[in-house]
Order: sequence, then C-alpha cells, then structure tokens
Amino acid sequence: MLSYLHGFHAGNVADVHKHAALVLILAHLQKKDKPFCVIDTHAGAGWYDLSSTQAQKTGEWKAGIAAAQQAQHIPAALAPYLDLVTGFVPENLHNEEAGGTDAKPFYYPGSPFIVQKMLRESDRLSLMELHPREYETLDRRVYHDRRIHLQKRDGYEGLVAMVPPPIRRGMVLMDPSYDVKQDYARAAKSIMAAHRRWATATYMLWYPILTDGFEGELHQMFRQIETPGGVLCSELAASHGGARGRMLGSGLLIINPPFQLDGQLAEIGDWLVDVVTLPGPAAHRLDWLVKAQ
Ligand SMILES: C[S@@+](CC[C@H](N)C(=O)[O-])C[C@H]1O[C@@H](n2cnc3c(N)ncnc32)[C@H](O)[C@@H]1O
Repeated sequence: MLSYLHGFHAGNVADVHKHAALVLILAHLQKKDKPFCVIDTHAGAGWYDLSSTQAQKTGEWKAGIAAAQQAQHIPAALAPYLDLVTGFVPENLHNEEAGGTDAKPFYYPGSPFIVQKMLRESDRLSLMELHPREYETLDRRVYHDRRIHLQKRDGYEGLVAMVPPPIRRGMVLMDPSYDVKQDYARAAKSIMAAHRRWATATYMLWYPILTDGFEGELHQMFRQIETPGGVLCSELAASHGGARGRMLGSGLLIINPPFQLDGQLAEIGDWLVDVVTLPGPAAHRLDWLVKAQ
C-alpha cells in the first residue's frame, strides 16, 4: 500500500531533525578526499514546492523549517543544513508543473537533493523509490546527473542486495513512510542484514514517535547490534498532546555515527525544542543504545 506522499509533510519538524543529521554525516564523509557513496532507500520526489496545494493544505513546514529559519541564535551544528536549504533552487524548473496555487513558489530539498548538493565528482548516490508517480518525478529530476542511480525498487530488499557497494566509505538513509506497522520490523531487519555485510557504513533510520507507537520494539532490536562504532538514538518529541495517532515527534537511530555527532545532535535538539512546534510539551533525548568503543 503506497498512500503516503511526502509533499504534504515536506519541511516539517521531522524533516528538519533528520535532514540536519544527514548534512552532518555527509560533512564528515567529505572530510577525506576518498570518495563516498550514499544509499537512500526511500527517496520520495526529490524536492518540494512549499507553496503548492499539498504543502499549503497541512502547513506542517511552518512549524518546522519556517520556524527554524526565522529563529535567532542558530547553533553552529545546524548552520550548514539551514544554509543548504535556504539557498536551494531546483534546476530545470521548465520541466515542472505549477504547484496549483498563485503563491510564489519556494522550494525545500528532500534527501536526494540534500545529498546531491554535497556530492563531489567521484561520490555516488543510489536512490530507491516505489511509488510510481514519485518515482517518475524523481527520475525526471535526477536522470541527467551521472553520479546518481535511481531504481524503482523496494528499499528494504534493495538495500541488502546492494551492499557492500564498490565504494566502501559511506552511509545509508532509511526513511520509510510507515504506511503499515510492519514497516518498523522490515526496516530494522533490512538494516541489520545490511550491517552484517557492510559493517563500516553509517546507517540512519528515521521513525515517527506516535501516541501508541512501536519505537520501543525498534530500540530493542537496535540494542542487539554488535558494532564498535555504537548505536545512537536521538528523539525530539512531545510527552503527550494532540489527537490519537498523531505524531508526537521524530526519532533517529544511527549506527556508527561519526565522531562528535552526539554533541552536535544534542546542541541541535536542545535548540529545536524551543523553536519548532510539537503537539505538547517537548524534550530532546539522546541515548547510546550501544556504546561506542
Ligand atoms: C518519508 S518519504 C521519503 C522522504 C525522503 N527520504 C526525504 O527525506 O525527502 C517515504 C517514501 O518512501 C516511499 N516508499 C514506501 N515504501 C517503499 C519501499 N518499500 N521501498 C522504497 N520506497 C518506498 C514512499 O512512496 C515515499 O515516497
């Protein structure tokens, strides 16, 4: 079942949280001249027009990226993400349909274009997307970039089949839509199988924190991962509030996080709690589920 469209949610609190962490991991990979590769298992449409009918309908970006852009005293760790997003203008806009409103378009990059902006000549990006229309849109947007390879493929199965990649330095982003509750177990199993084959990569899994969510089961599974780099968990969430089934917040599980990412995420999370809007009183929690050695 593919009912989820990221256009309704682009630029929301969860995107700010996950994309800020993504930029920090990529910045770490850029520190060495050696090429890196990124596998993005659930890619979406690539970028989003926040003036479109979809984005205006929910307005979720107002409590996320817009709030962060308007705030004062931006933490140093968040600045590279905010600079990238604020300066983002898609290429080849003449190929695109209008967003359905009269408002002036303004754009937010999804994970494929955040990564694309940080790729060097010899770096590579593998994308997977199953939704037929999202796939077509993304294909139109990335096909001319020879560093990027897009497949219409199941990201859980595709990841395991694709690792280890020819370029051994790198990271995996898994950002499912959680249309069905089986996505939690599928995500964890896929990442754990990929990690057994490609143990040195950094893996980042995003998950929603819901009133009756499944994050406890995810934590349990990730605690079993044996890795000298450790497993870090960052959760930005309200303790309660909002309607039943509504998202209370955003969670990230990161295997083999780069050196000092824990401090950077603490800085970002503590700042975001006061800046973005969640359904109730919120906090940022950072835990090592598996300690780094
Ligand atoms: C949360 S969105 C991705 C957003 C994107 N990662 C970003 O940060 O901009 C999840 C996407 O996964 C796609 N999807 C759902 N199930 C999938 C699967 N099994 N394999 C690959 N893509 C899938 C959905 O169509 C949707 O576009």
